[in-house]
Amino acid sequence: MTHTTQKLSSKSEVLIEKENKYGAHNYHPLPVVLEKGEGVYVWDVDGKKYFDFLSAYSAVNQGHCHPKIVGAMMEQAQRLTLTSRAFYNDQLGVYEEYITNYFGFDKVLPMNTGAEAVETALKLCRKWAYEVKGISENQAQIIVCENNFHGRTTTIISFSNDEGARKSFGPFTEGFIKIPYDDTQALENALKSSKNIAGFLVEPIQGEAGVYVPSEGYLAKAKALCEAHNVLFIADEVQTGIARTGKLLAVHHENVQPDILILGKAISGGVYPVSAVLANNGIMNVIKPGQHGSTFGGNPIAAAVAIAALEVVREENLSENAEKLGIILRKGLNEIAERNPLIELVRGKGLLNAIVINSGEDSDLAWDICLRFRDYGLLAKPTHGNKIRFAPPLVITEPQIYECLAIIEKALNDFK
Ligand SMILES: Cc1ncc(COP(=O)(O)O)c(C=O)c1O
Repeated sequence: MTHTTQKLSSKSEVLIEKENKYGAHNYHPLPVVLEKGEGVYVWDVDGKKYFDFLSAYSAVNQGHCHPKIVGAMMEQAQRLTLTSRAFYNDQLGVYEEYITNYFGFDKVLPMNTGAEAVETALKLCRKWAYEVKGISENQAQIIVCENNFHGRTTTIISFSNDEGARKSFGPFTEGFIKIPYDDTQALENALKSSKNIAGFLVEPIQGEAGVYVPSEGYLAKAKALCEAHNVLFIADEVQTGIARTGKLLAVHHENVQPDILILGKAISGGVYPVSAVLANNGIMNVIKPGQHGSTFGGNPIAAAVAIAALEVVREENLSENAEKLGIILRKGLNEIAERNPLIELVRGKGLLNAIVINSGEDSDLAWDICLRFRDYGLLAKPTHGNKIRFAPPLVITEPQIYECLAIIEKALNDFK
């Protein structure tokens, strides 16, 4: 077993020190300082090249600095950047038409970050519950799942069960019922427990929790149960959406159309913060002027960038590529697992995958393994202790997948 990791250059050390000294310590990055990206690759400040196996938590599905998306941003940035929604602009309506047709909804509400879009969906769901479903004011409940991750705002962490995300941030927002993930019986019981249920918020695959893929049929059954109880099925596809799991949306694996769809991250290819909430008129029309908004939401750059990013997904067949290469990646990882017992489990869908390291959640082993991946030219990061997510940009090719599998095996063998 060899355990010496690559020493950082003084240039990297100086830059890391600046972040440590002047930045809040709300992240614990892997020690590598990046300065350039192209497609599946990123380069550090010393010119070393890496495969990016995180893709900025699935924001960079189209690959780093995709020329079409960057081109759309530069072209728009030179003409008009921000009008606010106090006035119309020549990009927003075009984008709204494009994205609603693309995903099959009547309307979109544009925001910037994933958490903002989740907040928007929760507000929309509550308003619909009071004004359409007829629940008495302040009584609405939204069902959520254990081990969810939907972002970092005060309301969203109110229904998290990650102690690190919650501790000392209370008091919390009320109105949420938590049930186990991937459990339709628990959902049915919760739906029957009260007449005040407004919505069910769910990640089609729990990404941050460690890429938990629910049982086949879970999403379709959950949607049917929601329909039967006149409850909105709200899919948070911020991480799973836009081709990542081998279909345009992860709910499409089960032919489900959510009542409210939440998108973020890859909707801009990682070029600009863009998020969106989509719904049909019966739901979206409850929002009237002055009731919700954002200065930057729906700005002309975001609109131009998002159209380009969504076009790339279609033009480059990214769903099909994710589906095909995901199968090859998981097969390769399972073969490595047969030769190396350090991999306890391989799971995922499309190119959203994880390996579970046979060390228990509290061990540093997954972190050390990620340092070794880095040394060998591949960047990945542990999530929840002993899980390592493998989510490369969807433009990755089959030979590159094999190259990455070789790096992964070589690094893991160092810890055998
Ligand atoms: C499923 C899901 N929802 C919401 C978010 C929050 O997105 P953002 O970090 O852009 O606020 C994330 C981020 O990882 C996510 O994975």
